[in-house]
Amino acid sequence: MSVLHLLLFLLLHVLPLASPAVDADQFTFDGFAGANLSLDGTATVTPDGLLMLTNGTTQLKGHAFYPVPVRFHEAANGNASSRSFSTAFVFGIVSEYDDFSSPGLAFVVSKSKNFSTALQSQYMGLANAANNGNSSNHFLAVELDTIVNAEFGDMSNNHVGVDVDGLSSIVADNAGYYEDGTGAFINMSLLNRTAAQVWVDFDARTSLVSVTMAPLELPKPKKPLLSATVNLSSVIQDKAYVGFSSSTGVVSSRHYVLAWSFKMDGGQAPPLNIQKLPALPFTTPKRRSKTLYILLPIASAALVLALAIAVVLIDRRRRRYAEVKEDWETEFGPHRFSYKDLFHATKGFSDERLLGIGGFGRVYKGVLPTSGAEVAVKKVSHESRQGMKEFISEVVSIGQIRHRNLVRLLGYCRRKRELLLVYDYMPNGSLDKLLHDHNTMVLSWSQRLGIINDVASSILYLHEDWEKVVLHRDVKASNVLLDADMNGRLGDFGLARLYDHGTDPHTTHVVGTMGYLAPELGHTGRASKASDIFAFGVFMLEVACGRRPVSQDEHGDHLLLADRVIEHWREGAITDAVDPRLRGDFPAEEASFVLKLCLLCSHPLPSARPGIRQIMQFLSGDTRLPEVSVEHVSVDVLALRQNQVVHSHSSLPSTEAGNISDVPAAR
Ligand SMILES: Nc1ncnc2c1ncn2[C@@H]1O[C@H](COP(=O)(O)OP(=O)(O)OP(=O)(O)O)[C@@H](O)[C@H]1O
Ligand SMILES: *[C@@H]1O[C@H](CO)[C@@H](O)[C@H](O)[C@H]1NC(C)=O
Ligand SMILES: *[C@@H]1O[C@H](CO)[C@@H](O)[C@H](O)[C@H]1NC(C)=O
Ligand SMILES: *[C@@H]1O[C@H](CO)[C@@H](O)[C@H](O)[C@H]1NC(C)=O
Ligand SMILES: *[C@@H]1O[C@H](CO)[C@@H](O)[C@H](O)[C@H]1NC(C)=O
Ligand SMILES: *[C@@H]1O[C@H](CO)[C@@H](O)[C@H](O)[C@H]1NC(C)=O
Ligand SMILES: *[C@@H]1O[C@H](CO)[C@@H](O)[C@H](O)[C@H]1NC(C)=O
Ligand SMILES: *[C@@H]1O[C@H](CO)[C@@H](O)[C@H](O)[C@H]1NC(C)=O
Ligand SMILES: *[C@@H]1O[C@H](CO)[C@@H](O)[C@H](O)[C@H]1NC(C)=O
Repeated sequence: MSVLHLLLFLLLHVLPLASPAVDADQFTFDGFAGANLSLDGTATVTPDGLLMLTNGTTQLKGHAFYPVPVRFHEAANGNASSRSFSTAFVFGIVSEYDDFSSPGLAFVVSKSKNFSTALQSQYMGLANAANNGNSSNHFLAVELDTIVNAEFGDMSNNHVGVDVDGLSSIVADNAGYYEDGTGAFINMSLLNRTAAQVWVDFDARTSLVSVTMAPLELPKPKKPLLSATVNLSSVIQDKAYVGFSSSTGVVSSRHYVLAWSFKMDGGQAPPLNIQKLPALPFTTPKRRSKTLYILLPIASAALVLALAIAVVLIDRRRRRYAEVKEDWETEFGPHRFSYKDLFHATKGFSDERLLGIGGFGRVYKGVLPTSGAEVAVKKVSHESRQGMKEFISEVVSIGQIRHRNLVRLLGYCRRKRELLLVYDYMPNGSLDKLLHDHNTMVLSWSQRLGIINDVASSILYLHEDWEKVVLHRDVKASNVLLDADMNGRLGDFGLARLYDHGTDPHTTHVVGTMGYLAPELGHTGRASKASDIFAFGVFMLEVACGRRPVSQDEHGDHLLLADRVIEHWREGAITDAVDPRLRGDFPAEEASFVLKLCLLCSHPLPSARPGIRQIMQFLSGDTRLPEVSVEHVSVDVLALRQNQVVHSHSSLPSTEAGNISDVPAAR
């Protein structure tokens, strides 16, 4: 007996840390250094006295029980009734993240401390899927739960609940406390790495379990966080172990108990010495929160912004390079250029690449990115889709036309209100610049004749030699371009058609250029080979005379070049009409013949004009030009036809009506 007393004395006074209270009905651990606890799983006591239920390894569980069971029933006269108890503990949860953990810890009163079949994670080391809620489990738990488990009806990731035999709480509430005095509810965080105190009281008289929690610095609040009526006798028949259970799930968390006191049979659990508590380990939480809650919003905002910018850029790019393509165009695929290529080829259609502005639109020089070929890109604004198919098919068929005196049409591209035509680039520009821009070189007579021949052979090809008749409709000096060898090449063929198609068929819209328009066009509006010949005649006159087809005299009246030449002819010196810049350096006979041929081609009556093959024969000298009189070429159509044909060449009165008799009837 005295030995036992001595032992008790030693235990109580010499080794106070090791076992502060041997009495199972009441004990206090202000820190667990040296405590005699029954631990399993991951539970350990750290050197600085923290009871660490889980050690950070995921998907594990740990338990710590007071080693001796406590009698929860008072057996008196065969009547069994539960005993009241009160406990207080300080816990702390240190998760790898500062706002996310799993799953929590629980204070447990359990018939058995063998939880080997219980599962970790959401089962918190207390039960498993098969036995959860089974009354054979015999445990009462107060859970501090940091995850939401829908299967257990969890209310939040920060709640406190009272559980019996399973993880579904009888009552639960968000962690927090009711402030004494005001009664206001103050939220608390279970996992903000701050230790907090919890009190669990069971009043056997009322069968009421009450849970209270508060920050360490506060005394126990008067109003409990939650209370539940529990028939403890049905859970715990006799003796039970008290302690803690915890587990980890997917997140590495450490669940700590820093201090614990327990007392049976009424009254409060012994107060804990808050000042003497071991400190929670300080670890820097991973940047999940920073990633998810600071960086993520920034990152996602940045991403959204980047996406928005990308969308805008792509859209701008899409718009910038947007083309119009229709099904029927697939057959013309190879002739189609991408707008992007043309855009880059012309440096974005920059002014430095502008070659000139014509009646249809601007012409830019470009270098194709793929082949490096030099091209001229003509931008034609075109509103109407009408006739576009016919035009494009014509463009494409024209694109197949290969002739040394035609500017090759390489292909096209379509945009919303724009048509882009891609031609071979002609390094020496257009003939009209050479003829009328007096800062350039003077073309010699033989050069001029060569160019006339070139253009004639191109028209021959279009009118006679190509598989179908192609009317040029806009033969003129500005449409004759000079290649690197100063050969004349006719360009722009067929383009006038676009405007024919594009316009209302009921209005006869004459296409062409003033001065080059055959008089019958004003009447019929129908282009023909003869109207091309008329324009060719005017063109030849322009080349030979170095003058524009229409000029203004000193009174501001329009003066036709043809009339001027006819006047020279009447005066008996037709060669006076030849370009003075040649300073007479030309064969007079040949010049006279060419001028007469010009006038014949530009005859007011279409039927009087020779065909292109004939013209070629005249030019080559194979056929002699028949003697034509000045009267023949200056016939007054107005007088002849008694109707309002516009663009008569002659402003001179027709002198001898008899000369007209050899002119075949019009049309
Ligand atoms: N293939 C080309 N190579 C080099 N320069 C060209 C080419 N095509 C056109 N040009 C230049 O662009 C200018 C404008 O050409 P465009 O054919 O559009 O005008 P235009 O012949 O005066 O008028 P229209 O459009 O009524 O025929 C020409 O005068 C010429 O200097
Ligand atoms: C711990 O307590 C158990 C039960 O009372 C006892 O058997 C054991 O010897 C104790 N261990 C120590 C180290 O005190
Ligand atoms: C945690 O405890 C388990 C089981 O005791 C052990 O296997 C594991 O290595 C421990 N982890 C750490 C980080 O100490
Ligand atoms: C035990 O139960 C009986 C009958 O219910 C009752 O009369 C008696 O007072 C009870 N004894 C104690 C100690 O509560
Ligand atoms: C715990 O229970 C399991 C099965 O219920 C049993 O196999 C095991 O031996 C028990 N462990 C202890 C220490 O009693
Ligand atoms: C509860 O557990 C006991 C013992 O493990 C078992 O016999 C019983 O069938 C279980 N009850 C339910 C409802 O699962
Ligand atoms: C406490 O937290 C819960 C859940 O996060 C919230 O719904 C409630 O509004 C909070 N109450 C106060 C007073 O902050
Ligand atoms: C954690 O929460 C408690 C109670 O809500 C508060 O007193 C404490 O200051 C908080 N700690 C941190 C680090 O936010
Ligand atoms: C409590 O449970 C015991 C055992 O199951 C039962 O005998 C008793 O009637 C219950 N008491 C109440 C108030 O439900």
